[in-house]
Amino acid sequence: MRMLLLIIFMAVLWSNCSSENKTIPIDSVMKIAQQQYNALLVEIDGKKLLPRTIEKGELKLVEPEDWTSGFFPGALWYLYQYSGDEKWKAAAEKYSSLLEDIQYFTGNHDIGFMMYCSYGNGYRITKNKQYRELLIQSAKSLCTRYNPKVGCIRSWDWNQKKWQYPVIIDNMMNLELLLWAFHETGDSSFFKIAVAHADNTMKNHFREDFSTYHVVDYDPKTGQPRIKQTWQGLSDSSAWARGQAWGLYGFTMMYRETGNLKYLKLAEKIAEFILKHIPHDMVPYWDFDVDSDSEPRDASAAAIMASAFFDLSKYGSESSGKYLNAAIKILQSLSSEKYLAKPGENNHFILMHSVGSKPGQSEIDVPLNYADYYYMEALLKASRRMQ
Ligand code: GLY
Repeated sequence: MRMLLLIIFMAVLWSNCSSENKTIPIDSVMKIAQQQYNALLVEIDGKKLLPRTIEKGELKLVEPEDWTSGFFPGALWYLYQYSGDEKWKAAAEKYSSLLEDIQYFTGNHDIGFMMYCSYGNGYRITKNKQYRELLIQSAKSLCTRYNPKVGCIRSWDWNQKKWQYPVIIDNMMNLELLLWAFHETGDSSFFKIAVAHADNTMKNHFREDFSTYHVVDYDPKTGQPRIKQTWQGLSDSSAWARGQAWGLYGFTMMYRETGNLKYLKLAEKIAEFILKHIPHDMVPYWDFDVDSDSEPRDASAAAIMASAFFDLSKYGSESSGKYLNAAIKILQSLSSEKYLAKPGENNHFILMHSVGSKPGQSEIDVPLNYADYYYMEALLKASRRMQ
């Protein structure tokens, strides 16, 4: 009986949203995405570097060691997944291969972003055995940054005059690589590290209103938090928009991969905070504590949230319809002329108006490769819902 009710509920939910869903112009956006990325491929041909953003009006390319290096190959894998065109597969393979040595990178926590967005998508789509090995090595490299006393993976090593063991909310995203490695190999140490990190983040990163701090610095001798502050947000007590997006995505992913309801409950609380504070057009300002139109929006945060909301809407809670609606509305907004570049413009990135670090006065109101990546990921999720 409960199963029958659930099926009826899902059917009603689906029929309610499918008409709205059709209003996301997935095919025309993906056409623009292909035009833009075709042009980017021509521009970077032979350079062995990866596009990240625009700086002083010029395309900025980065080395494979840059934290954003996995997003461009990842976006190419998404174009292949969407179109089935072998041309995108060849490009995705080529630009993923620039990151081969990153499997041994232990300089910060970002290896999950770098390798799982590139090779992780490549393995999911092709089942290439070499990619599997690279990913398992990458997960091992990430685990070298885990300290059992703290129960977290250390995010950064710099700023040691101030921080002893900094952990940032973004780090939740890197746990997906560890959970993949656990499911793939059966080695429970990957699982234990991911769960310990998520549990300590759940305990120490969130405020009463379920907004998140950006940085929590731990004392590695006692394992206790010693400083809670921001690096990319407005202030230590504010809610940096992309941080909220990483938290939403990270804890939704933790529920998907572990089935533990406590992660779903936290993801829903984060979702409530976001939905309560997000502006009408569903694209946040760079920090939730600013609300003036003179402040830049952050399309990257919106794209990450859209992708997470699609997943969160699948878990049958009473708010599923609300989350699906949020994902759709964000994609509709990002697909409007306010955020979506015209072909040939925006240095061939897809989305305009993201922010890297406003306090760092870097990448303000620019395109970013990860905005494009999560936008495409969310569009693919929307397109699967329509099939
Ligand atoms: N992980 C860095 C950022 O979100 O800007």
